[in-house]
Formats: sequence, structure tokens, C-alpha cells
Amino acid sequence: MKNAGEVKNSRLVRSAFVFAACYIVLLVVIFLMIVINDPHGWTGYIVDHVTEILTLCVCTFLLCFIIYYYYYFEDKEFLSKVSNVVLVFSLVTVCAVASYLFGRFVGNIYARPSALLALLCVFLFNRRQAIMLNFIFSILMFVIDTYTNNFGSDGATAQVYYSLMLNFVCGTFAIFAVGKNKTRGGLLLTGCVVAIPTVVIVTLLEVTAIYSDWIEFVSCIGYSIIGCLVSAALALALMPVFEAIFNRLTVFRLRELTSTNAPLLVRLKQEAPGTFNHSLIVAQLSETCAVAIGENAELARAAAYYHDVGKLKQPDCFTENQVGYNVHDELMPELSADIIRSHAKDGYELLTAARFPKIIADVAREHHGTLPIKYFYNKAMKLSGGDVNIADYSYLGPTPQSKIAAIVMIADASEAAARALGDRSPAAVERVVRSIIEERMDLDQFAQCDITIRELTVIKQTLVEALSGVHHHRVEYPAIRFNRARQAVQDEKKE
Ligand SMILES: [Fe+2]
Ligand SMILES: [Fe+2]
Repeated sequence: MKNAGEVKNSRLVRSAFVFAACYIVLLVVIFLMIVINDPHGWTGYIVDHVTEILTLCVCTFLLCFIIYYYYYFEDKEFLSKVSNVVLVFSLVTVCAVASYLFGRFVGNIYARPSALLALLCVFLFNRRQAIMLNFIFSILMFVIDTYTNNFGSDGATAQVYYSLMLNFVCGTFAIFAVGKNKTRGGLLLTGCVVAIPTVVIVTLLEVTAIYSDWIEFVSCIGYSIIGCLVSAALALALMPVFEAIFNRLTVFRLRELTSTNAPLLVRLKQEAPGTFNHSLIVAQLSETCAVAIGENAELARAAAYYHDVGKLKQPDCFTENQVGYNVHDELMPELSADIIRSHAKDGYELLTAARFPKIIADVAREHHGTLPIKYFYNKAMKLSGGDVNIADYSYLGPTPQSKIAAIVMIADASEAAARALGDRSPAAVERVVRSIIEERMDLDQFAQCDITIRELTVIKQTLVEALSGVHHHRVEYPAIRFNRARQAVQDEKKE
């Protein structure tokens, strides 16, 4: 049996081989560019430029190596998944091809979608990775332009440096321009905003053309604006493709999943309305807690929406969906416990089969950790006179592996406990939430996730404020009815 360290190392070695394979694919794509540039004389070009071709191969290898090295030190977890490595190289290759095609077939280097890779990376990964990958991509395009026949067989022109500057500046600017406004409209707006520094740079680069050939100057400005808009439009078009193929989580995907028209939520609403209502409140609570401790609020909301989706298998077996009749009255407690605890596993399987992002499926499986199902354990103890194995009445786990799963676990239990509470004053709610958190700490439910005591305290305070508000007492309505003439009539019950 391999231990965890050995498994991780073997995965990293596997990723290194995938890196090498992706590097070869990238070289093939670059060679195809050389062939397309000169379909009849490309063999002659390669023979005459062996040194340049070798430099191209070595520089491309070094750039790939820098990407591997970056992830090796910054995010080994990311690197250990082959699909992540393939995604990074797919993005680089697709953006290189798009830049090449626009530059070549539109006939102007400024028409290249310079901010495309940066926009895709900031949505599919994060800002930090986007900055690094955009930097590497800018150098890669510079190397390709310099050591291939992209600008003719005589070698690079000044335009190669212009392209390097545009890729680097527009990409970096786009990453920061996206900001927190991560909507499809915001993405298109980013394309327009990026056009401003692009126009400034192009004006500076082509300033001499204002006097010598102003039509050329205006066309360069026009093409640079088109390049920015094409970057945003292509990012919008390609995002769902990468999301679907690599099962990546973006804000767009999260919004689709949390839309009340999402198929699984519609099913939950129709087949298990009690669970649906409970999930809505848990989602609201989880989102507030995530904001309070600086976690991804939209992810917390989405994960909470689907945390109990496993109940769809037997909705009537869960209290919130029962009206009067309780099936468990006729079942042995062991069977009842088995039905109840399997909803976590069923939810995980349902979400995995529907190709949901892994973290959302994981939260469904982990939201009860390995906690005992007290009600049926107690019932079994009474029936058997104390001869009961607690493991038969406990959830199968695993315990929460992420802070989001821990938030959903606490919010879920707090919502259910507060609902059953007669006195919903802040002091009473505080007592309940505190005991929920303390019980889970006692049972080592947070041992596998890196949540801190400070964050648990913040979560507790947030839940107390929210639950005292959610379950506030309403002023009792007076029992008066009005007739059409708007005159008060006696209540039917009192007649
Ligand atoms: Fe649950
Ligand atoms: Fe729940």
C-alpha cells in the first residue's frame, strides 16, 4: 500500500509526463503555423533556419518548465490533477492559435485578441494564476513571432515587440478590470474598458504614422479596438466549452446552478418541497457565513442549495416532507437510520452523475460528517436495552474537507435546531448554535478541514444574528374579516 506522500509524488511525476506531451502538441501547432505561412517553401525555411527552430524549441520548453515549476511551488494539489495540466495547455494553445489566425487573416497584428487568455484564466482559475499565465503567454507569442515565419522569412519586425507589449499590458489590465463584476455583461464591458489603454499604447507606437499615413494610423486604432472586443466575445464563447469539458467552476456556472430553473432544484421543489424550503434557508445562512469569513459566497450558496438533494430518492422519509403520516413509525430503527444516512451518499452520487463541480458533490457527502443519528440511536437503545453499535447509527462521512462544507454543516444543523426552538431570542439561539459547534468539535468533525477557532466564532455570531432575524416573532394579526363594502364582519369561526 502506498502512503499519501508517495501517491502525491507519483501524481506529480505523471503530471510531468503530461506536461511533456502537451509541450510536443504545442510544438506541432507551432510547426503547423510555419507550414500555413509558407505552404510551398516551409521545408526550405526550416532547413535554412535550423538555429532559429532549435531556439524556438528550447525557449518553448523553458516556458513550459516555468509553468510546471510555478505550480510545483505554489499549488501542488492543482498540479497533481492531469485534467488541470491539460486545461492550462489547452488554454495556451487555443489562445496562441486565435492570436495567430486573427493576426494573419485579418492582416493586422493589432486585431489579435491580446486579452483573451487573461480573461479566460481569471474566470477559470484566479487572478494570481491569470497574471502568471498571461506573462508566460506574452513571452511565448513573442518567441513564436520571432523564431517563425509569422512576419515573413526574413525574420521579425518591430511589430513583434508591439505584440509583446499589447499582450502583456492588455492582458494584465483586463485581469484587474474584471474586478468583482463577474457577469457576462461585465465581461463585455471589460473588453470595452481594455480598449482605452490599448488605444493609448497603439497611438504611442504608431505616432509617426499620424503625419506620414493617417489612414494607416486610424486603421491600426480601429483594429486594436476590434482586438479588445474580440477578446471579450471569444472569452464569452469559449468559457462554457472549457467549463463543460474540464468541469470547472466559474461564477457563470454557479449562477446557472443556483437559478431556481436549474433542473435538480425544480425536481426538489416539486418532489420534496419541505427539503427545498429548508435548502433555501440553509443557502442564505451559508452565504452570509461565507461572506463573514472571506470564503466564496456564491459557492457556499450553491453547495447549500444541493446539500440535501439525496433526499429526492425517498423524499417522504424525511420529516420536512411528511404531512401527518410518518413511515418510520412502522420501521425498525436500524432500517430508518440506514435510509436517513444514505441521503448524503445518494446526493453525492446524484450530483457526480449529473457532472456537478466536485466541491458541490463533496459538500453533499460531507455535510453530516460521521455524526450519530441521535433519534434512531435512542429508539434502538430503548428497544434493545442498550445493545447497540453506534457505528450502525452514524453517517458514513467523510467529515468536512473544506471550509464551505463546514459552514454548510453548521448552518444546516442550526437552521433545523432554531426551527424547533420555542424561544428565539438571541441568547437562546446563541446557546443552541454554540452547542452545535461544540458537539461537532468534540466529535472531531472539523479535523480534516482548515477552519480556525476564530472563524468558527465568527460563524456562530453570524448565525445567531441571522437566525434571530429569520425566525423573528410577528405581531399577531387581529381576527377581523372585511366584506366587499369594506365593512368589518365577524370571523366565521365565531359565528
Ligand atoms: Fe442532510
Ligand atoms: Fe439539511
